[in-house]
This record gives sequence, structure tokens and C-alpha cells, in this order.
Amino acid sequence: MKVLVATEKPFAAAAVQGIREIIEGAGYELALLEKYTDKQQLLDAVADADGLIIRSDIVDNQVLDAAKNLKIVVRAGAGYDNVDLTSATAHNVCVENTPGQNSNAVAELAFGMMVMAARNMYDGKSGFELKGKHLGIQAFGQVGRNVARIGQGFGMEVEAVDPYCPETAMVELNVKPVKTVAELYAGNQFVSINIPATPETIKSINYELITSMPKNGVLVNTARKEVIDEEGLERALADRSDLRYVSDVRSGNADALLEKFPGRVFFTPKKMGAQTAEANANAGTAAARQTVDFLRDGIDKFRVNR
Ligand code: 3PG
Repeated sequence: MKVLVATEKPFAAAAVQGIREIIEGAGYELALLEKYTDKQQLLDAVADADGLIIRSDIVDNQVLDAAKNLKIVVRAGAGYDNVDLTSATAHNVCVENTPGQNSNAVAELAFGMMVMAARNMYDGKSGFELKGKHLGIQAFGQVGRNVARIGQGFGMEVEAVDPYCPETAMVELNVKPVKTVAELYAGNQFVSINIPATPETIKSINYELITSMPKNGVLVNTARKEVIDEEGLERALADRSDLRYVSDVRSGNADALLEKFPGRVFFTPKKMGAQTAEANANAGTAAARQTVDFLRDGIDKFRVNR
């Protein structure tokens, strides 16, 4: 059996070594396709793979058609909006993610960007502090919980909204549950977006929500660009000169925003929330173990396309 690790944005070398030990230790062959620039390279590499480990790499119907032996795709990470689940199910391919394995790394970057925004992108002028400020967390999943923990360390007042999470889970962690997304944005100077991109969330962060934020609002996006209504964001930044937007996911209008609102907008050059040695090792080796568990024993605990 052959397992392909296809990562346009590679894991750290030590993480790849950990993956190799697990895959080869199970008696399987490991193939590596890193930094590929052309989809055809993926189509060729996946042709004889039984298992596939990816990050944000796109696995669509064409890839699944090309992968004649494929039985499992593991997205080493949280969001699996890059995999066509319907097509995978039709191709009898199990799709899994590795929830929680990179969430601390993403949460830490959210704070890196919050501090940067509060200190005027480190331009030397007087900024403001996080301590004592209100932090709203949109979705209380694994990343959201890490954002809450770190925010409390900064001395922030933390609130969260999540229709899929019981309020008791928030209260146990000293996080105040709020009922609606509108309430979260209106009540928090800092808002951290930690929702997946789904039909329900795409373009849901709109002009009304963003402009409802309190004075000196800082909106932090370490989730997906698709959840932002880009035109609404641009209008909000134009109408409210005190608002700031910092993001690990580059929007379609990023260049225009950077030009129009200098010092108030920031994008990482490439999505790097999960790009730490620890997160690479955690997510990569979890993906390798899950792949072996499935190919060898049929275990599909983390399956997302049931
Ligand atoms: C995730 O969904 O796990 C994060 O967005 C990280 O994505 P990446 O593996 O492409 O860095």
C-alpha cells in the first residue's frame, strides 16, 4: 500500500520524518509531493496512492477520479472545505480531519496579530493594550477555546457565540456565552473569527456586523477568507476610520485594502496559523496514524463524510 503526502505548503522536516516512521513502520510505502505548482503533478502522484495526506490542498472530483486506488484522505488540520466530500463519498473514499492538532498555533497567531493591530502595526506611535478589553470569539471549537485561554492570560473579558456548543462548556471556562453573532460584534472591541467556511457562514461577516463593533474595533480572521463579505469589509473600513482588520487569509481585495487603509489592515504573506514545528508534528503524525488505523484496521473515528 502507498500513502502520498501532498502538501503545496510543506510540513517541517521533522514532522515529515515522524509521518515517515509511522507509515513505513506499518509496512506501507511513503511518497512525498511538496511545493507542487501544477495540479497535474498531484493528479500524477495520486494515481496509485491508497492513502492521501494533505493540508489546504484541493481534492476535487478530478483528483478523486485520478486516484483509482484511493481509500482515505486525511486533511492534516481542522477545516476540510478543500475536499469535495460528496465526490469522495461517491468514490467510496473516507475523508478525515485531525481536530485540535494545530489549534494552539492558530490561536497564538491570532494574538500576534491582535497586538500588532493594537500597536499600529509597530509604527512607533502610541497604541492601546489588550488588558481589560472585551474579546468576542466567534465559534467555540478547538481554536476558539485556545483563543479564550490566551485572552484570559492577557486579562481580557472573554465572550463567545456558538450555536453548536452548549453554553455550559463556555461557562466552565469562565467565558460568557452570548446568544447571537450580532450581539458578539456589538459588544466586543476585539473579535476573533474561528468559524469554518460552510454555506451558512460564507460572506456572513458583513458591513452591518463590522460597523457595529465598538470604537477602535479589531477584527481578527484566522479562519477562511470566504466567510467575509469583502465589499462590506471595504465599505466598513472606509466609513469607520478607527476599525482595523488583521488576517491570516488573504481576501480577493487584499491589495486594494492595503492601499486604501494603510496601517489598519494586515495580511500574512501565506496562511501560517498552523505553520509551527509543533502543529506540523501534531497534525502530520495524527494524520499518519489515522491513515494507518483506517487502511489496516478500518478505524474511521475522525471521518467527516458519513
Ligand atoms: C486548518 O484548517 O487546519 C488551518 O486553516 C490550517 O491550514 P494549513 O494546513 O493549510 O496551514
